[in-house]
Amino acid sequence: DVGGVKISREDVVRDDPTNNVPDNIFSKLGVQLHRRDEHPLGILKNAIYEYFDTNYSNKFEKFDDLCPIVSVKENFDDVLVPEDHVSRSYNDTYYVDPQTVLRCHTSAHQAELLRSGHTHFLVTGDVYRRDSIDSTHYPVFHQMEGFRVFSPEDWEASGMDATLFAATDLKKCLEGLASHLFGAVEMRWVDTYFPFTNPSFELEIYFKENWLEVLGCGVTEQEILKRNGKPNNVAWAFGLGLERLAMVLFDIPDIRLFWSNDERFTSQFCKGQLGVKFKPFSKYPPCYKDMSFWISESFTENNLCEVVRGIAGDLVEEVQLIDNFTNKKGMTSHCYRIAYRSMERSLTDEEINDLQWKVREQVQDKLNVVLR
Ligand code: PHE
Repeated sequence: DVGGVKISREDVVRDDPTNNVPDNIFSKLGVQLHRRDEHPLGILKNAIYEYFDTNYSNKFEKFDDLCPIVSVKENFDDVLVPEDHVSRSYNDTYYVDPQTVLRCHTSAHQAELLRSGHTHFLVTGDVYRRDSIDSTHYPVFHQMEGFRVFSPEDWEASGMDATLFAATDLKKCLEGLASHLFGAVEMRWVDTYFPFTNPSFELEIYFKENWLEVLGCGVTEQEILKRNGKPNNVAWAFGLGLERLAMVLFDIPDIRLFWSNDERFTSQFCKGQLGVKFKPFSKYPPCYKDMSFWISESFTENNLCEVVRGIAGDLVEEVQLIDNFTNKKGMTSHCYRIAYRSMERSLTDEEINDLQWKVREQVQDKLNVVLR
C-alpha cells in the first residue's frame, strides 16, 4: 500500500554534519497516507479530484507520488523564496545535506512540472516542517497544490487584464471547491504575501465560531512562468492543507490520529464517504510534567520539541511554555509543561517518569541548557 516512492535510509539519514532528519521523521517517508482510499486524507483527496474532474472535464493532471526529497533549488529558489527567508533555516526545515531538503510545501514541484509542459495539475504529497507541538501541528502533514496556466485567448475575450482575470477565476474555482466540500459555508478572502504569487490570498471558512485558514493561493509571479518556458501566459496556484480540512470535515480532534493504526480509528472511514463524523473513543487521562532550565542563545522551541518527540513519539500531546523570566544577571529561564497522553491506552506513572527522565537527560546534553 506504500506506492512507488522507493526511499532508502542512505537517501535521508546521511552521515552529513548538517543533516537534521531524526529517525522518527525518516520513518514517515514513503507511508503516503494520502494514497489510501479508505483513510480520511485519501477520501478528501479523491473528493477534491472529483470537483476538478466534474468542473474542468478531466483537464487537471494528478500527481500524488512525487518524491518528497527535493533540492534546495526546487523547494526554495525555483519559487523565488528570498535567500534570507526564515523558512530556509535549519530551525524550520529538514535538511538531508546542504543542497537537499524534505520538501516543506508541494510548491516545490511547480517549476519542474511547468517546464515539462503541464498546464493544469494537482500535486498531493507529504510535506515536512520543524514545528511546535499541539493538537493541530505535526512535523509531517499533507498538502495539495493546484496550478492552472492561461493563454492570451483566455483573458483577451474577457476585457479584463490578465492578472485580474486569473485572480477572478482562481477565487471562483476555490469558492466552488469549498462549497463542494462543506456545503453552504461562510467564507472570506484575506490578502497575504507569498514569494511566488502576486497578488496572494488566504481563504478562511467560518467553522465552530472561528475563522479557519484553509489554503493559500494567488496569481503566479511572472518570473516563474518566464523561467519555465511560458513567458506569454499567466497562471494561478493554490496550496491547501489536507489535515486542517479533514479535521473539520470528519470532526477529528487531534492531528496524531491520522497516523494511528488503531482499528477504532481506521474502521470508522470508508472509501468515497466524505464527512462521516468521527466518534472519539474514550480519551485517556493526560499527565503533565514541568521542567525549567536556563536557556542559552542557541535555544529554540523547535529543537526542544524534536528532542521530546524523539523520546516520547506520539505519546506527547503538547509542549507549552508556561513561564519565562530573565534574572538580574541576564540569564533567561524557561519552564515548559509537557502533556503526555496516548490516543490508545492509559499510561502508567512509571512509564511517564521514565520518559520524563530521558527527556531531562537529553535536553541537558543536546540543547546546551542548564536544568534548574
Ligand atoms: N506553498 C504555500 C504554503 O505552503 C501555499 C501556496 C501555494 C500559496 C501556492 C500560494 C500558491 O504555505
